[in-house]
Amino acid sequence: MVVNSDAIITVENLVKKYNGHTAVDGISFEIKRGEIFGLLGPNGAGKSTIISILCCLLEPSLGRVMIDGLEIKKNASDIKKIIGVVPQEISLYPTLTARENLEFYGKIYGLSGRTLKSRVEALLDMVGLTERADDLLEGYSGGMKRRINIAAALLHEPRILYLDEPSTGVDPQSRRRIYDTIQDLNRQGTTVLLTTHQMEDAEKLCHRIAIMDKGKLVALDTLKGLLELVGESDLIHVLATEILPGPVESIKRMPNVQKVSLDEGNMTIQLVRGRESLVGIIDILVSAGTRVESIYIKEPDLESLFLHLTGTSLRG
Ligand SMILES: Nc1ncnc2c1ncn2[C@@H]1O[C@H](COP(=O)(O)OP(=O)(O)O)[C@@H](O)[C@H]1O
Ligand SMILES: [Mg+2]
Repeated sequence: MVVNSDAIITVENLVKKYNGHTAVDGISFEIKRGEIFGLLGPNGAGKSTIISILCCLLEPSLGRVMIDGLEIKKNASDIKKIIGVVPQEISLYPTLTARENLEFYGKIYGLSGRTLKSRVEALLDMVGLTERADDLLEGYSGGMKRRINIAAALLHEPRILYLDEPSTGVDPQSRRRIYDTIQDLNRQGTTVLLTTHQMEDAEKLCHRIAIMDKGKLVALDTLKGLLELVGESDLIHVLATEILPGPVESIKRMPNVQKVSLDEGNMTIQLVRGRESLVGIIDILVSAGTRVESIYIKEPDLESLFLHLTGTSLRG
């Protein structure tokens, strides 16, 4: 999907207070038509509150939200027709089969007859659960339930899809399938807003990522733009039986090496453009007779950025 420059969602100075507690504290951002936009932040950051407001389920305390040209306070029923919502909590009937659940939701959206049937079959196929469609939901894994919940949000072919923590409680196989589904939908033109506290979701899926902490936006950019904020330092970790002073001194003298720390057989090298120096470092170690057991490079990621910006961990 080509990302357009025009905004399909505009959020201006949004504030939400629950009995005096400020859950969303003056947030502004725009989501472009055709974009996969991520809200990344730890539990309690205010992500679900924003989703609830954007679904017209919760009224903001202050601020303005426009969705596809419609103001949320005045046009809730029109907005609900163009959005699909996959809530954080699974909302399906355990004693119905997957197909029956989808038929039930389709009827709520006003679908019937052949249209309903073909829509249900297409969505079962899209989330990869056609073969399990006649099994009761209660026998499904967390990941399979989430996939059916995604299908349920798509029955009325929404232009905008919200997913609140789509990969929480999901096994790796279902997670891959969910990623594929989100990307397929986006290629077909759906604008996607997802929330997550897992950096992998944001890194793998999102065109742009807004990082939230304690109700505030702390950064908003593409993954590349965000990683540039952390600085360029990579870390190379070396594990060896014994590391002699000679090679350590040679590594310290390499032009892009910033710092070398040594803890018995563990060496950590902080440097810029680590990948380019990897072979040189291995050469120095091996020619000094070091028996390297493992060596790996850690490039900056959203976890290190979050730590850099807030002083706390994303998982915390
Ligand atoms: N219905 C509610 N009543 C009171 N406080 C709430 C309610 N919903 C959320 N909160 C509080 O608002 C803050 C943000 O919550 P939430 O939007 O669920 O964050 P996230 O989805 O990022 O984990 C948290 O401190 C939470 O305890
Ligand atoms: Mg939440």
